[in-house]
Amino acid sequence: MKRRYLLITLFVLLIAAGGLAYRYLQTHGFSARVEPHPLEEALALTVRKLVTPSSYLKLKNPLAESPVYLAEARVHYADHCAVCHGADGSGKTKISKGLYPPTPDFSAARTQELSDGELFYIIREGIRFSGMPGFGGSDKENWKLVQFIRHIPNLSSEELEMIRSEMPKRSKQ
Ligand code: HEC
Repeated sequence: MKRRYLLITLFVLLIAAGGLAYRYLQTHGFSARVEPHPLEEALALTVRKLVTPSSYLKLKNPLAESPVYLAEARVHYADHCAVCHGADGSGKTKISKGLYPPTPDFSAARTQELSDGELFYIIREGIRFSGMPGFGGSDKENWKLVQFIRHIPNLSSEELEMIRSEMPKRSKQ
C-alpha cells in the first residue's frame, strides 16, 4: 500500500514539474539572447559530466608542457576559437551575446576544473544543443589546445596582442 502512495505522489510531482516547466517556457519564450538561469546551467553541466564517456574523464594530457606547443595552439585558437570565445578567452564576444548557452569564461573554475580528458572530448566532439562545434581534428592538435586553455588565465599582454593580430579580420571585436 505504502509503495502505491509513493508512486502516486511521484506521478503527481512529475506532472506538476512538467506543468511548471511548460508555464515557464510559455512565459519566457525561446530567446537565445537571455542568460540561462543558474539552476539550468548547473543541471546542464551535471548532465554533461554524466554523459561524458568515463574513459575520457580520467585522461591526462600526454604532451609535456612546451612553449612551441603553446605557440602552435595559440595560432589555432586565434583562427578557430577566438571568434566565439574571445582573444582573452573571457567569452565576451559579439557572437556570444546571441548564443544560448553563452560562451563561458575559460579562466573561471567552471572550465579550469574540468579534467584534461573532458576538455579534449569537448574540443573534439563539441557540445550538443549549444553553439560549440565538434572540430574532430588530430589528437595531438587537440591536446595542444587543452594545454593552451590551461594557459589562458596566465596569458601575457604580448600573447594577447598576437592572438588579436592572428584572428581572421571579420571576427575581430
Ligand atoms: C561558434 C562558436 C564557438 C566556436 C567557434 C568555438 N566554441 Fe567552444 N564553446 C562555445 C559555446 C557556446 C560553449 C558553451 C557550451 C555550453 O555551455 O554547453 C563552448 C564551450 C567550450 C568548452 C567548454 C568550457 C566549459 O567551461 O564548459 C571548451 C573547452 C571549448 N568550448 C573549447 C573551444 C575550442 C578549443 C574552440 C576552437 C577549436 C572552440 N571552443 C570554438 C562556442 C564556440
